[in-house]
Amino acid sequence: MKILAIETSCDETGVAIVEGTKTGDSISFAIRGNALLSQAPLHAAYGGVYPNLAKREHQKNLPIILEQALKDALPKLSQKRSSGSLEDSARPFFGESFGGTPEAINAIAVTQGPGLEPALWTGIEFAKKLAKEWNVPLIPVNHMEGHLISSLVKDGKLENVELPVLALLISGGHTEFVLMRDWYKYEIIGETLDDAVGEAFDKVARMLELPYPGGPHISKYAAVAREKNLKSEITLPRSMIGTKTCDVSFSGLKTSALYALRGKNLTEDEKAAFAREFEDTVADIFVAKTRRALEETGARTFVIGGGVAANSFLRTRLQDLVAKDFNDIEFRLPELSITGDNAIMIAEAALTRALSGLEDATTEDFRAVGNLSL
Ligand code: KG4
Ligand code: ZN
Repeated sequence: MKILAIETSCDETGVAIVEGTKTGDSISFAIRGNALLSQAPLHAAYGGVYPNLAKREHQKNLPIILEQALKDALPKLSQKRSSGSLEDSARPFFGESFGGTPEAINAIAVTQGPGLEPALWTGIEFAKKLAKEWNVPLIPVNHMEGHLISSLVKDGKLENVELPVLALLISGGHTEFVLMRDWYKYEIIGETLDDAVGEAFDKVARMLELPYPGGPHISKYAAVAREKNLKSEITLPRSMIGTKTCDVSFSGLKTSALYALRGKNLTEDEKAAFAREFEDTVADIFVAKTRRALEETGARTFVIGGGVAANSFLRTRLQDLVAKDFNDIEFRLPELSITGDNAIMIAEAALTRALSGLEDATTEDFRAVGNLSL
């Protein structure tokens, strides 16, 4: 089964064409085409994502990104494309490449939420139009399920996943521990009470005059500090680290960073030391809360997903935790290329549901839901 997926929930415009094949209990994924455009440099001036700018950019870029994904899937597209709209010309090319029938794309998947509604609507409207023209069903996908399912995929396959699964989903908009005892049945067992961790990375980066999105920059500075053994004089609060829940909070950390840095003109080394302290704090909090979540749930598989799951220090700290104290649990770490928002994850979530025979996942009329929950 082949799905063309569209992702526009935030500031990434993504289109991917993925083929999924089910053999017994295993699903394998082959990425046929993929294109992704980040608007981050445009939003950098605002220090965060500006919804109406995101919408405008998605509208402008979706046809271009679709064409790129198609070109990626079909090397011949550029020469053979006739004049007329891309939608008109694209479909026959699918046919040519995918075995000769125009029905080669079985469905279109699109992110329904959560995310910024103006941005989500852009993708949904584009997907609806395409689905109508190509006469294929449309599958709405929960963005967080996309992060979760794609993070469980190992070497292109979703197989041998032992339940329950504990997922730590960490991004610019979300921070939550999700428990999946049965496939597609989710329970949020802990979450942030205020800011998402990615937001904290971005805000603190801004205080250090590092560009948006700040996570990767903080990570680089912190790595330099570890290499040079630079330590900050400032100690940041590990808020809620000792509470008897799996909830976290990052607003106090952000405020403490603001006070600690106010009026200071830091050298590069001091910035690095501060970034290290910040990253240590975040890692300490997640290690403590992951320990609690694993103990409380008896999860057999642990997985992390979302943009912040690219953080190498956090990955190492969590790997150490599992190796040391939970060595009978499998820890699945997503490839770095899919931790941030992308359309491959949307395709994989849709394929997983569709190939598992979940008919009700397919509907033609649905709305964008900014606060859609798992
Ligand atoms: O999942 P994502 O691409 O978009 C949302 O759904 O929010 O996550 C983006 C977030 C941003 O806050 C970015 O700063 C953070 O992920 N991020 C990182 C790293 N790479 C991206 N945070 C820490 N370390 C990283 N290496
Ligand atoms: Zn995301």
